Amino acid sequence: MTIATKPRQPELKTALPGPSTKAIIERDAQHLSTSYMRPYPFVPDHGEGVWLTDVDGNTMLDFFAGIAVSTTGHAHPHVVKGVQDQITKFTHVCLTDYPQEITTSLAERLVRHVERPGEKWRVFFGNSGAEAVEAAVKLARNHTGRTHIISTMGSFHGRTYGAITLTGSKTKYKRGFGPLLPAVSHVPYPNPFRPPLGSTPETCGQAVIDHIESLFVGVIPADEVAAIIIEPMQGEGGYIIPPADFLPKLRALCDRHGIMLIFDEVQAGMGRSGKMFSFQHFFEHGDVQPDMITVAKGIASGMPISALLAKESVMTWPVGSHGSTYGGNPVAAAAAHATLDLLEGVVKHPDCGDNLMDNASQVGDYIMAELKKMQTQFPFLGDIRGKGLFIGLEFVKPDGSPDGALRDRASMAMFEKGLLNLDCGEAVIRISPPLILTREEAETGLEIMRQALSELK
Ligand SMILES: Cc1ncc(COP(=O)(O)O)c(C=O)c1O
Repeated sequence: MTIATKPRQPELKTALPGPSTKAIIERDAQHLSTSYMRPYPFVPDHGEGVWLTDVDGNTMLDFFAGIAVSTTGHAHPHVVKGVQDQITKFTHVCLTDYPQEITTSLAERLVRHVERPGEKWRVFFGNSGAEAVEAAVKLARNHTGRTHIISTMGSFHGRTYGAITLTGSKTKYKRGFGPLLPAVSHVPYPNPFRPPLGSTPETCGQAVIDHIESLFVGVIPADEVAAIIIEPMQGEGGYIIPPADFLPKLRALCDRHGIMLIFDEVQAGMGRSGKMFSFQHFFEHGDVQPDMITVAKGIASGMPISALLAKESVMTWPVGSHGSTYGGNPVAAAAAHATLDLLEGVVKHPDCGDNLMDNASQVGDYIMAELKKMQTQFPFLGDIRGKGLFIGLEFVKPDGSPDGALRDRASMAMFEKGLLNLDCGEAVIRISPPLILTREEAETGLEIMRQALSELK
């Protein structure tokens, strides 16, 4: 494996944006969809590991991994080889109609990370996170014969009609697009930093459970609820970790009422939190086994594939009732196998210990500890939270309210110093780098953050 792991620094050869970047941004603004966002002027040319070089030759450290997607970094030799080997065999035949060993073995491999003794799971493959979410909702309704779906405030589940209906983070995703899916309700997410429903950081989990139970008394008949869908660690809403007792209590609530529990692991899953699935951090606090799991993003290091994992007892939809032309594409499946090789440690990545999940834990712990030190220096860092390489920094005003404007300035200052980063929530910067990030590379990024934050006055 030839990927470079030697210490490097960002190399800025032009003022940002450089001339080639500017020219492409101008053409992009002429011809691409008006819906695309452009948080800062960056146009990639090529990448290697945790480094991305723009079209002007400026090399930046990647702390956002294409929104938590590039698990193994850019152009990882093992992933490149997997893709090249498969593309010379066949690119497409259509999994909906014909089995393919590469997807059969991928499904076998994925369910091994969730099956408990005596339990069997099955997999439906799609192309994007939203498709996995749509599949989960369709399956929940089809299996239970019920219609209502409960989701959470602050959530993000994708851009298709069902997925935007479930999403609870920003009204701009919905404005002007209605009517949306009927029979969907939103409940607060238990955010210990901003506890909802008059609760405290310690009681916010129970408060949300009590709130759902109260809805079942006066608002929604529980026996009409097909599923509760939730991100076990909330991504776009602000990289929020719920209190330890919440997910076991939610599982118990679903059991009491015969409701399917769907964990959307699209952003926090696939090793990013230091475990394969983020809900697995809560095992020691009780039963948290969901009925379905959606995964995408990090599953194939950037190749488009998603998966809905469901208990065999739940995946009861009839032959032909759901499918996809491209879903489970063999080239993307090859990239998923290569990504899993590195996540599981079947193939080792230099300087990243036994496997990329352990590396995410260790480097993530280091970043969290350093950020907590920075918090004492910068009082506008209201909260530092996360697990593994799923970390959020929340910016606050002196009165403790979210400071989105300061967050935006911080994000731009970091970019201008060569650190690619991305916002989320109302006033949060997320740290979601490739899971191959070494401690030295983390320190380089932290030093850029220190410098950028010290310029914010
Ligand atoms: C938790 C979660 N679910 C679903 C999605 C939608 O994924 P996609 O953009 O691949 O459709 C996202 C995307 O950010 C997500 O974070």
